[in-house]
Amino acid sequence: MKSPFVVCGATGNIGSRIAEILLAAGEPVRIVGRERVRLGPLAAKGAEPWPGDIGDTAFLGKVFSGARGAFILIPPKYDASDIREYQDRIGASLVSALSKSRVPRIVALSSVGAHLAEGTGPIVGLHGLETRLTALKDAEIVYLRPAYFMENHLWSIPLIRTRGVNGSLTRPDVPLPMIATEDIADATAHLFLEGKFHGHAVRYLLGPRDLTMSEATRILGEAIGKPGLRYVQFPEEEARKAMAEAGMSGSVAEAMLEMQRGFNTGIVRPTRERSEESTTPTTLEWFSKSVFARAYRAAA
Ligand SMILES: NC(=O)c1ccc[n+]([C@@H]2O[C@H](COP(=O)([O-])OP(=O)(O)OC[C@H]3O[C@@H](n4cnc5c(N)ncnc54)[C@H](OP(=O)(O)O)[C@@H]3O)[C@@H](O)[C@H]2O)c1
Repeated sequence: MKSPFVVCGATGNIGSRIAEILLAAGEPVRIVGRERVRLGPLAAKGAEPWPGDIGDTAFLGKVFSGARGAFILIPPKYDASDIREYQDRIGASLVSALSKSRVPRIVALSSVGAHLAEGTGPIVGLHGLETRLTALKDAEIVYLRPAYFMENHLWSIPLIRTRGVNGSLTRPDVPLPMIATEDIADATAHLFLEGKFHGHAVRYLLGPRDLTMSEATRILGEAIGKPGLRYVQFPEEEARKAMAEAGMSGSVAEAMLEMQRGFNTGIVRPTRERSEESTTPTTLEWFSKSVFARAYRAAA
């Protein structure tokens, strides 16, 4: 019997699709999330559910025991009272358990900008995760550094509905790579299935092309029947208020603002030129029509 892959965040955007692909390929998969009931649909397809908290190292030690490979992430926690402390705690738990269980192949969800130790908001926590993982000398590790998620645009739906504009602190004219999370899942699942690991390696995933917020807003607007939808750069105080209204803690909102300042100054960018390997297929046009427009209509 083959040893299993572990997929953390298995009810989330990326983990759920990784698990689906591995199961469809006939691989044994352990799926991790906090609630058994939410793991049910994948369990019904043959996955082994492991409900529990990834901040619990003893629990993770059991999950990782005997695993052939693991996909790990630091899940978002928008209400964290201290986002840095939360990210450090989860990162320490994951790496300690991976080390004790000697998992041989790891794909770690990091981000563009994770080469920097400061000035990037929540991405600083992913820099911390990458740094911790470097201690696992015997494991083969891919540090996945995806771009800005297209799914982030879903946060704009209440704003577009109530004020008829899109906006944030990010400048309208800064080109940013944007990726659909399904492309991250596909790349991860293929890494596991093809076994293409070579020591410790960084892999950027950058979507099909860079887009400014103005361009992205035009594409989103067209998909929801608002072709003239405008993007507005908010002053910091207004951006802070919008994030508080969306339910983010003060600590998370400050981190997001720092990241957006990082976009504006251009420090949050890949350290390598875009290549065939880092370019992924799903376009914002497709995402807007299939995911964004549906969510926009559902929020009516
Ligand atoms: N947004 C971006 O632009 C961007 C860019 C680059 C990298 N990233 C990284 O991508 C991550 C988000 O990935 P995603 O979109 O796949 O996340 P997601 O859809 O929010 O999924 C998070 C997953 O983690 C699980 N989870 C949350 N807390 C947990 C805990 N304490 N113990 C066990 N499981 C827990 C959730 O399951 P339950 O709720 O069922 O427990 C869910 O399955 C971010 O946190 C960041 O690190 C984001």
